[in-house]
Amino acid sequence: MDPLMVVLCLLPLYPGLATAAPSCPQNVNIAGGSFTLSNGWAPGSILTYSCPLGYYPFPVASRLCNSNGQWQIPRATRSTKPVCKPVRCPAPVSFENGVYTPRLGSHPVGGNLTFECEDGFTLRGSPVRQCRPNGMWDGETAVCDNGASHCPDPGISVGAVRTGSRFGPGDKVRYRCSSNLVLTGSMERECQDNGVWSGTEPICRQPYSYDFPEDVTPALGTSFSHLLGATNPTQTKKTENVGRKIQIQRSGHLNLYLLLDASQSVSEEDFGVFKRSASLLVDRIFSFEINISVAIITFASKPKIIMSVLKDKSRDVTEVVHSLENINYKDHENGTGTNIYEALNSVYIMMNNQMQNLGMNTMAWQEIRHAIILLTDGKSNMGGSPKPAVDNIKEILNIKEKRKDYLDIYAIGVGNVEVDWRELNELGSKKDGERHAFILKDTEALSQVFEHMLDVSQLTDTICGVGNMSANASAQERTPWHVTIKPKSHETCRGALISDQWVLTAAHCFSHSEDHSLWRVSVGDPNSQWGKEFRIEKAVISSEFNVSAKKHQGIPEFYGDDIALLKLDQKVKMSTHARPICLPCTVGANLALRRHPGSTCRDHEKELLNQLSVPAHFVALNGSKLNVHLKTGSDWTSCIQAVSQDKVTFPNLTNVREVVTDQFLCSGTKEDDNPCKGESGGSVFLERRFRFFQVGLVSWGLYSPCSSSNKNLRKKAPRGRIPPPRDFHINLFRLQPWLRQHLEGILNFLPL
Ligand SMILES: *[C@@H]1O[C@H](CO)[C@@H](O)[C@H](O)[C@H]1NC(C)=O
Ligand SMILES: *[C@@H]1O[C@H](CO)[C@@H](O)[C@H](O)[C@H]1NC(C)=O
Ligand SMILES: *[C@@H]1O[C@H](CO)[C@@H](O)[C@H](O)[C@H]1NC(C)=O
Ligand SMILES: *[C@@H]1O[C@H](CO)[C@@H](O)[C@H](O)[C@H]1NC(C)=O
Ligand SMILES: *[C@@H]1O[C@H](CO)[C@@H](O)[C@H](O)[C@H]1NC(C)=O
Ligand SMILES: *[C@@H]1O[C@H](CO)[C@@H](O)[C@H](O)[C@H]1NC(C)=O
Ligand SMILES: *[C@@H]1O[C@H](CO)[C@@H](O)[C@H](O)[C@H]1NC(C)=O
Ligand SMILES: *[C@@H]1O[C@H](CO)[C@@H](O)[C@H](O)[C@H]1NC(C)=O
Repeated sequence: MDPLMVVLCLLPLYPGLATAAPSCPQNVNIAGGSFTLSNGWAPGSILTYSCPLGYYPFPVASRLCNSNGQWQIPRATRSTKPVCKPVRCPAPVSFENGVYTPRLGSHPVGGNLTFECEDGFTLRGSPVRQCRPNGMWDGETAVCDNGASHCPDPGISVGAVRTGSRFGPGDKVRYRCSSNLVLTGSMERECQDNGVWSGTEPICRQPYSYDFPEDVTPALGTSFSHLLGATNPTQTKKTENVGRKIQIQRSGHLNLYLLLDASQSVSEEDFGVFKRSASLLVDRIFSFEINISVAIITFASKPKIIMSVLKDKSRDVTEVVHSLENINYKDHENGTGTNIYEALNSVYIMMNNQMQNLGMNTMAWQEIRHAIILLTDGKSNMGGSPKPAVDNIKEILNIKEKRKDYLDIYAIGVGNVEVDWRELNELGSKKDGERHAFILKDTEALSQVFEHMLDVSQLTDTICGVGNMSANASAQERTPWHVTIKPKSHETCRGALISDQWVLTAAHCFSHSEDHSLWRVSVGDPNSQWGKEFRIEKAVISSEFNVSAKKHQGIPEFYGDDIALLKLDQKVKMSTHARPICLPCTVGANLALRRHPGSTCRDHEKELLNQLSVPAHFVALNGSKLNVHLKTGSDWTSCIQAVSQDKVTFPNLTNVREVVTDQFLCSGTKEDDNPCKGESGGSVFLERRFRFFQVGLVSWGLYSPCSSSNKNLRKKAPRGRIPPPRDFHINLFRLQPWLRQHLEGILNFLPL
């Protein structure tokens, strides 16, 4: 008999063997809340309590089922029944040169604190603050300042005590938190020569408090933008006294190290969210065309290097995302502790190897910026304090006052459970006015944060096709290339910036004979300080365009070659509200598509119009981004057939292709939005990897959904309408010869 059979035969004789493993007691209910188990009642399973918004689990947020079948519970809390307790916000300990009310020991959620200053002092920050359900006050620290000092009065955040009351150059202030509050931010700050305090404002937190995504997004976005901006050493030198400008640049190098916690307490599902969030972040960062290498390290008791910055693949977004997606959750099944020290130490070793390769004194090594993003759900329970690893990293990167821009460490805790504020705070960088340590309640909050992490508001170069993707961006910020054209006194058409001085639009907006000097192009948001009107220096209207060219064939209106270019009388200053879109078949678009430099125009067309029905957008009169599907191949052929049903406009039509030539893209089927009259000339564009590409421009259609003067109203065509709604847009791939002829020296084109 083969040995396996022996084992199988023996089993039924000892039924106890299979069930002998102890299981933990099930009397673990929490009053007012619920719990989840990572692995049932079996040893090794982690029980996690959760409470409704505004409550937190007490005395502990989670427990481990020990191998002896008992829950691991700190001795002191063993007799305490689990309960969801109401969250409270801390009370101020001291407030100078003013008064606050009410005076309570701590404050309930929804309660307000009101601050007032004595005569001669002005209040900075928030005069009224409300206690939020995460145990944090909204608004900003109230400070009564008389403006007499070199640095502004740094104030005393709620729950903190400050020592040091002189605010001249070189003066230092120190903070500590009262009772059991935990300090995050800088314990000590120094008044710098430039009148700014060093470090980050110290905040005293309840140990159980956490951040809402909307708190984290702006903070993370700002510091990350600084990081991206700082990757250009020459640029920083030039603008030293202006402060660090946010410049997405094309030289310099960034090493991004992603450290993902895969320890026992991270469920497979949550680990999946870590991976997805990291992919999203990586994809977004690569969209800025910067030189970047990404390292990926997963860790539990031991770190595992998934991707090293020493590998060429680490510079390739496809490779990086691919390896992120293929990480196996089970990699750490045999060592499930949380060893942050070892994880950071593996980063240190990687840096050391790269330094050896490049040479310690070379520019290639010294110019690399380093950013570490640590995603964890727990405090380290192995390997000791991670701080020595951070110190080693700082030493090898030679991080001193002058080089502090070369290293950023973001410590992001997920789950308000075991995450230790002190430890995260110790790990995160502390830079002037920036925050690097966060705790989010759950992985959903994390993916929201990453989605909106990068702020490109100060981006000043002409990088194409970058829109603000933040949830709160205005319509113009989302489509900053969009412009309004006024050939007469009123708006009649739209257009798109394709460089810092040229606008692409439709020919039918103009009549050749008109005087250009009266035309205006409104760039940026016309309803805000960002809007600006430009005159036209030169108008290039396609000479082939002639609405009545086919009248004699019984086609009353014909829109072939409906294309025009306008040169503005000045260059547009690039901003978050004004920036060109990427024109396919150009070098700029090729970079944005992250394609090989040898790509052709044909390659772009294949990549952008890659399916029978391609989702795309145009901009409505009120600035909203609306949706269409551009049809290709056989779908295009059936899309254009609708024209034959328009017996009013085309009573004698025998061949649809006489009207809709190859120059036109077709949309307007099913759920598509239809452009209105005034939207002609506007871009028809698609998004690829967070960048925007103009493939068409709005020309004509069979149905106009806008009748009134209300810009926010758009009537869907009734079902079964004859002819069905269809819209035709000039296909820029078909007008390449014309574009190349007139944009030579303005844009760099790829071979056809
Ligand atoms: C606190 O102020 C807000 C508005 O400022 C108000 O809506 C709320 O009712 C106030 N809360 C209390 C407890 O007074
Ligand atoms: C977005 O706007 C809302 C409402 O104005 C605000 O409460 C929220 O904090 C904003 N979020 C971000 C990320 O700016
Ligand atoms: C990347 O860096 C290399 C040198 O390492 C440089 O030649 C190249 O221009 C850079 N490219 C980008 C897109 O930054
Ligand atoms: C864990 O240990 C088992 C038994 O030694 C082994 O078969 C398995 O491959 C290990 N898993 C990993 C990911 O190393
Ligand atoms: C994007 O929009 C948000 C919300 O309006 C704003 O805070 C941020 O500065 C903007 N960034 C860019 C890229 O314009
Ligand atoms: C447009 O085409 C018609 C018909 O061929 C012709 O008579 C007319 O002169 C053309 N107009 C222009 C401006 O070329
Ligand atoms: C269509 O054809 C009829 C008959 O040949 C003619 O009378 C009519 O003018 C034509 N319509 C147009 C718009 O050309
Ligand atoms: C803008 O107009 C579209 C219809 O054209 C409408 O669906 C949308 O709600 C409007 N947006 C705003 C902000 O009013």
